[in-house]
Amino acid sequence: MTEEKKEPKQEEPEPAEGKKLGRRDFLQGLSTLPVLGLFGAAVVQQARFDRKQKTKAAGTVKPRAGSVSDLNVALLGAGAQGEVLLNAMLKIPGLRFRAVCDIWTEYNRKKTVNLLRKYKHEPNAYENHEDMLAREKDLDAVVIATPDFWHSRHAVDCMKAGLHVYCEKEMSNTLEGARRMVMASRETKRLLQIGHQRRSNPRYIHCRERILGEAGMIGRIATVGGQWNRSAQPDLGWPARYAMPAERLKRYGFRSMAQFRNWRWYKGLGGGPIVDLGSHQIDIYNWFLGGRPVAVTANGGIDYYPASTHEWYDTVMAVYEYETPAGRTRAFYQTQTTNSSQGYFENFMGDAGTLLISESANRGAVYREPSAPAWDEWVRRGIVTAPVLSEDPAADAAAAVLDVRETVSPEKYGLPVEFTDPYHKPHLENFFDAVRGNAVLNCPAEVGYECAVTVLKVNASVEAARRLTFDPKEFEV
Ligand SMILES: NC(=O)c1ccc[n+]([C@@H]2O[C@H](COP(=O)([O-])OP(=O)(O)OC[C@H]3O[C@@H](n4cnc5c(N)ncnc54)[C@H](O)[C@@H]3O)[C@@H](O)[C@H]2O)c1
Repeated sequence: MTEEKKEPKQEEPEPAEGKKLGRRDFLQGLSTLPVLGLFGAAVVQQARFDRKQKTKAAGTVKPRAGSVSDLNVALLGAGAQGEVLLNAMLKIPGLRFRAVCDIWTEYNRKKTVNLLRKYKHEPNAYENHEDMLAREKDLDAVVIATPDFWHSRHAVDCMKAGLHVYCEKEMSNTLEGARRMVMASRETKRLLQIGHQRRSNPRYIHCRERILGEAGMIGRIATVGGQWNRSAQPDLGWPARYAMPAERLKRYGFRSMAQFRNWRWYKGLGGGPIVDLGSHQIDIYNWFLGGRPVAVTANGGIDYYPASTHEWYDTVMAVYEYETPAGRTRAFYQTQTTNSSQGYFENFMGDAGTLLISESANRGAVYREPSAPAWDEWVRRGIVTAPVLSEDPAADAAAAVLDVRETVSPEKYGLPVEFTDPYHKPHLENFFDAVRGNAVLNCPAEVGYECAVTVLKVNASVEAARRLTFDPKEFEV
């Protein structure tokens, strides 16, 4: 039976003559069908914001209510992030882990298989993804958490083998690689979710849909600021007795164990801190501002670490320019890897207020500019919580008088959304819901591609030591 014949076009897939459709055939068929608009209010509301993306994305499947059968899942890349994702997935019902593939067979792969056995899964273990795809014929989906330079090859091969794919960010370390992923998703009609997990975080969704969208309470956003600052860290090591043979390292593109462990610092393997850390937050700039930048000017370099082991810039400061329907917005972003001051956050500054948001669950607030109209209405409608009173109003008042250069501290309002799940769980749930036909992807291939274009230009601007513009066509595949 050809792949074409396996793709039923009607609402309820009919088995071909003489053959019953397996679960995987059924799921594959679903991903070719259009969205019918039966999703919950939040998804519908989000679809309004993302209309353009969603109509083009392959992440649109027909809802299949009440699906309860287990999905057969493989994990490809069982390192630090593979473990984080797995721990989140173990809290999601209806997943059966059938395979783990990782080249570090004696350490990461072993650890992960043992963990899964504790939870009563019986995964087969593979070193090479092609062997896994050749032998595992009943997989529905794969979760990829290998180093960035492997993403394109892994994701494309898995989609061609019929699997839906959740792939970690950065989508790819090259735009050619990312483009191949978008094309493969369209050609194979497989779902491809990119791991920008903030797009499924209920706190971020609330900020975008209700604070910026419904209330518009911070006004015209002319500037944005954000950062991810991280303490100086030694290179990652490994237990000597678990070192991989040189021949295996070479086969998978690594020069040495040191390079294998610290791949994100090497050109050709990762994209450095601006990609590793910045891409999550710069994706939020695009998402919240509802557009793409027209230019970026970045400055950075290898200021701290030895260039022999850190080929990418350890310190970067970038300014994006956006032309939004409301006017121009400049968005600053910095990442540096020698000091953790103020951690990580995004700060959207409007003429009526400031929205401070971070993946860190204990950071997030909205500050009212003193000149803005009262926000009682937004408190009443549950968009923000009542203002948080200063712990020491007398000291605040004295400080305002003493330092005449400062304006009065703005009133601080809280975010009403509690979120205590593992950070990645809602994004993974969104992916598996989409595989079951009950949701649309929150970060389909096209969205991941736009982010890759936006972020990779920062390294190009540092390299060129000048402002670089974006051609709108660059964002299209
Ligand atoms: N979304 C997030 O918040 C987040 C956080 C951290 C990392 N990440 C992403 O997750 C990915 C993995 O990062 P990490 O920190 O876990 O790296 P890591 O080095 O700890 O793990 C990578 C794993 O992939 C395996 N591997 C390498 N090449 C392989 C191949 N060809 N086939 C099979 N296995 C292979 C390695 O043996 C290792 O176990 C990266 O893309 C990274 O950007 C995302």
